[in-house]
Amino acid sequence: MENIKNILSGSRVLVIGGLGFIGSHVVEQLILEDVKEIIVYDNLSRGKIENVDLDNKKIKLVIGDVRDIDVLDNVMKGIDYVFHLAAMWLLHCKDYPRTAFEVNIEGTFNVLELCVKNGVKKLIFSSSASVYGDAIYSPMDENHPFNNRNFYGATKIAGESMATAFYERYGLKVIALRYANVYGPKQKEDAVYTGVIPTFLRKMEIGEDIEIHGDGSQAYDFIYVEDAARANICAAKADVNFGFYNVGTGIKTTIKELVDMLIRLTNAKIGIIYKPYDKNDLRQLVKDRVLDPTKAYNDLGFKYSYTLEEGLKKLINWRKNKNLININKSD
Ligand SMILES: NC(=O)c1ccc[n+]([C@@H]2O[C@H](COP(=O)([O-])OP(=O)(O)OC[C@H]3O[C@@H](n4cnc5c(N)ncnc54)[C@H](O)[C@@H]3O)[C@@H](O)[C@H]2O)c1
Repeated sequence: MENIKNILSGSRVLVIGGLGFIGSHVVEQLILEDVKEIIVYDNLSRGKIENVDLDNKKIKLVIGDVRDIDVLDNVMKGIDYVFHLAAMWLLHCKDYPRTAFEVNIEGTFNVLELCVKNGVKKLIFSSSASVYGDAIYSPMDENHPFNNRNFYGATKIAGESMATAFYERYGLKVIALRYANVYGPKQKEDAVYTGVIPTFLRKMEIGEDIEIHGDGSQAYDFIYVEDAARANICAAKADVNFGFYNVGTGIKTTIKELVDMLIRLTNAKIGIIYKPYDKNDLRQLVKDRVLDPTKAYNDLGFKYSYTLEEGLKKLINWRKNKNLININKSD
């Protein structure tokens, strides 16, 4: 069989937002790709140092901000591939739009400009399915209109649009990944759509009833974090210079189905309380979002490998082991 060269092997890579939920999984997978050096760049606003293995000699941590051009410029010297995952999340964008503008839009501009300046071979930009807003048709392919109605989605649309301009003007290779609802180990509970999973699991672990907002028929596309991280690797390796890609499973799961599955997998003896959405709850703007994964499969060779049930089982086990470690630590 022909030996296909792994372009990541021996390369120097930069993971901006690498201490975060998805970014730290990207770092783990880059180690397996035999890269030469991984610079993890993060301002610690949401990321945690313990999310990456700093004992690994390949990983170098730089605490810095995407708004700090000089520091970012310095770390980008000699970098081959950049993975840009740093962003303010949905609720922060809602409450602090100016900071969101500075981090998500200006910060992304800084990354694009410095990628050009430093001759980066390819940028993998974390966009979001939020660009689509609520479904006009389902599953949503990459041509689905931008039906977004919140500022977070607006910042991702701006990021994609700037990336297009940089590709056209400077030939900067960019792949933007529109993740569906990513879940898995290391996720925080305040993530807007997928935060329900760690929140429900915690309540099930302590035997507390859970609340469903709305009637539970709202449906999303849940993708396991290792799969979302692997999409970044596929995007870097693929012989594609530019494009926007859905990162989802194409499988629709309602919140009620999710809860039933979690109860079955954990054997939790808890009740479900149905509550109306709060007036300002952004989640009611998007009640149907399932992504068509075909383009990512055809162009990037990316396909999810964990079903929701398999991913949830892995997450439940991880939480059990983590609790054991914490108990041992406090002994
Ligand atoms: N988790 C999801 O379901 C999901 C869905 C769609 C899109 N995304 C996008 O994927 C990316 C990663 O998401 P995540 O869930 O891992 O989020 P996260 O908050 O866990 O990770 C983001 C990381 O960026 C860092 N960061 C934030 N602002 C920064 C700044 N100004 N300078 C440097 N570092 C900064 C944070 O400390 C954090 O470690 C984000 O761009 C997010 O918008 C996530």
